[in-house]
Amino acid sequence: MQRISGTPAVDIDESRLRANVARMQALATRHGLALRPHVKTHKSIELARIQQDAGAFGFTASKPQEAAIFAARFPSLTVAYPLVVSNPIDRLLRIAADAGCDLRFVVDSRETLESLGHAAGRFGRTVRTFIEIDVGLGRCGVLSDSRELIELARRITEDPRLELAGILSHAGHAYAAIDRSAVAAIAERERRTMLDARALLEHAGIGVPVVSVGSTPTVLAAESFEGIDEIRPGNYIMLDGTQVALGVARYDDVALSVLTTIVSRNDNHYIVDAGSKTLSSDRGAHGAERPAGYGAAFTGAIAEGTERLAVTRLSEEHGFVARGETDLPIGTRLWIVPNHACPVVNLARTMMLIGEEVCEIMVDASGCVG
Ligand SMILES: Cc1ncc(COP(=O)(O)O)c(C=O)c1O
Repeated sequence: MQRISGTPAVDIDESRLRANVARMQALATRHGLALRPHVKTHKSIELARIQQDAGAFGFTASKPQEAAIFAARFPSLTVAYPLVVSNPIDRLLRIAADAGCDLRFVVDSRETLESLGHAAGRFGRTVRTFIEIDVGLGRCGVLSDSRELIELARRITEDPRLELAGILSHAGHAYAAIDRSAVAAIAERERRTMLDARALLEHAGIGVPVVSVGSTPTVLAAESFEGIDEIRPGNYIMLDGTQVALGVARYDDVALSVLTTIVSRNDNHYIVDAGSKTLSSDRGAHGAERPAGYGAAFTGAIAEGTERLAVTRLSEEHGFVARGETDLPIGTRLWIVPNHACPVVNLARTMMLIGEEVCEIMVDASGCVG
């Protein structure tokens, strides 16, 4: 493998990344779903273009700073995060209006709804919004059988500044599942919950244009998408140790690794030059600590059945890799597959895209968490 950078570096295997993109697009096409990848995983305009060229219908972002970068360049974006403060909403509406981007928001409270309504009024535009449904994560969203859901939907339909885009969910609790079949069961519960929510609204005379779901494990493990209109997975483009532990991916599919060098060693550990400032201290999405530690270190190809060593501890600039029975010299390079790829990308300014050529690409929304 040809290299043009030192270590640590975030390496992306281009052929695996393209295969992951193609696989997800094929799944979406097969089930008649619009695919709106979540950009928080790669935060890269260049990688979003690969998804768009493969057929992605639009994108999903979380925070306003991240959303602004993609709204300026892509025709359709969902900001899947409840926004309460007016300045970021105004800024996003301005950027979207200038770029001609179809921007969609989410709400789960009267407060977020009022903020959006006031912003829409200031711009003299109709703003489209989803209502988020809590399907079990216990984070944002209203319950599918709640009065709150009907009240929010009524407020939206009665407000000329707003338009109901649909209902949206994220089954992040699937990251705590024990295996693929448990993930599939959560995906099916999510689907039924969302269809119940749609039925409740329709019974109240409120049409639901789009039912939007999405997390990487639930989409990869789901057995049915009947009644679902769009999916919003993000992590699938890279994959990571957590997806492997959940049984929805194999190490052979993982596109992202962190290239490190062994800089010291002792009886128990190799010390590598990537610590929490590179790998983050995240042990798995939504707090799921799977697999144990901070990742798996490979001496060569990242594949099933290849020897891998556990990254057991992190200092800021040092990683502790358990030696096991191995005896690697100082200077050896190790590729670490993190448990959670997304925060690793967020900490990087560039990534090395390794294909026929090796090129350094920008993480355009690096650190954009506001
Ligand atoms: C609202 C929302 N949609 C979609 C996603 C994408 O999920 P994943 O990272 O599992 O692909 C996330 C991830 O946190 C999310 O919060």
